Amino acid sequence: MRALVAYGSKYGSTKEIAERIAKNLREGGMTVDLKNVTEEKVTAGGYDLAVVGSGIYAGKWMKPVLKFLQDGSPELSKGKVALFACCMDAADPKANKDAVKRYIADVQAGMPGLKVASSATFAGVVDFNKYGFVVKKIMKSIYVKRNEEAGSPEKADEIDWTKTRDYRDWNAIDAWSKDLLAK
Ligand SMILES: Cc1cc2nc3c(=O)[nH]c(=O)nc-3n(C[C@H](O)[C@H](O)[C@H](O)COP(=O)(O)O)c2cc1C
Repeated sequence: MRALVAYGSKYGSTKEIAERIAKNLREGGMTVDLKNVTEEKVTAGGYDLAVVGSGIYAGKWMKPVLKFLQDGSPELSKGKVALFACCMDAADPKANKDAVKRYIADVQAGMPGLKVASSATFAGVVDFNKYGFVVKKIMKSIYVKRNEEAGSPEKADEIDWTKTRDYRDWNAIDAWSKDLLAK
């Protein structure tokens, strides 16, 4: 059985999730191609299972990943398709329930021909050290606002901006990939 794990990632957290999914599928006996669709041209055909994922930016999947899904939809749909999104909203899924659902639902709504067997939204990483000046400013203000909304305000001047916030739940990622093997 052949599987494709295709992803888009700017800062590496989705890449590492894709690598983990690929490893789990290999351990389950599949032959896996792991591809970054933002860096190389990826062929959609010939897979029994295609797992496609993207980091979320301003509420959206990365454009090259969407294009890959759109163009590849007829070929991908010959096998099973599974989608995953990686974002910070999923770190607090209760507070961000609608957004977390939308990150998958919007993609499916835009591609009615794509038959999706399984989907998941995973919490990612927020690392202010990696962002440029403008992105850092935006992300800091979003972070402060969310802290306030969550009812546990860290004062902006007390927040340790050098700390990497890695919200990834590897057990959930492992469980989902093992579930894909069973489908
Ligand atoms: C400029 C920017 C915009 C983002 N927008 C969102 C967003 O709209 N919703 C969300 O849940 N996470 C958002 N995030 C968080 C990312 O989805 C998260 O950091 C993810 O782990 C990034 O994946 P990557 O490391 O593979 O690029 C944003 C991050 C950045 C830097």
